[in-house]
Amino acid sequence: MIKGFIFDLDGVITDTAEQHFLAWKKLSDEMGWEFDREVNENLRGISRMDSLRFILDHNEISLDDETLVELATKKNVVYQDLLNDITPEDFLPGAKEILTHLRTEGFHVALGSSSKNAQKVLEQLSATGYFDVVGDGHSVTKSKPNPAIFLFGAEKLGLQPEECIVFEDAEKGIDAAKNGGFYSVGIGPYERVGHAHLRFDTMAEATLFEIKSYFKDLF
Ligand code: G6P
Ligand code: MG
Repeated sequence: MIKGFIFDLDGVITDTAEQHFLAWKKLSDEMGWEFDREVNENLRGISRMDSLRFILDHNEISLDDETLVELATKKNVVYQDLLNDITPEDFLPGAKEILTHLRTEGFHVALGSSSKNAQKVLEQLSATGYFDVVGDGHSVTKSKPNPAIFLFGAEKLGLQPEECIVFEDAEKGIDAAKNGGFYSVGIGPYERVGHAHLRFDTMAEATLFEIKSYFKDLF
């Protein structure tokens, strides 16, 4: 029986892909690296260091660990500054509605984000009250597609994976949910999250009614 929901943050609750893009773009321009929106799409759901490694591989550049940390930190300073502009108006359409609905119906709700800035984003959105548990980039060491962050959320909620539905917009995020034995809802195009149990183009269509109708035997 479904008792809980675990939400990814970036691309599900709010769309911070643009701020990530702008921050990586600034660093890339300064360093003379090639980086565009298409490359940025590959960074969805993966950690800051893995994102930097992806950009460097794309540019066929190899750097020592110390420089990697320095550059990732530099990107994060720019990103955090951009986060200051996020307001409670910046929920993705439909996100606040389903979170409110889940609260009303008494479901357990956790955040399962790879971001080390998740707390800050939740505060900017005034969204902390929707979550019983916040799992973020500080909670676990293994990143998606490893299911660690979702297993952390489920355990803190006191639930088994098969009692939870995970919401994700990243290909590796859906992999992580399935690897952990969770039910999954993909948000985005078929090419990205078509392997989820259920998929919607946007959060606006992902209502609790639709989810209950699809997973009817589980409620
Ligand atoms: C999310 C985003 C990724 C980002 C990661 C780490 O999963 O989708 O694009 O790289 O978080 O974010 P952070 O805020 O820790 O740099
Ligand atoms: Mg995401």
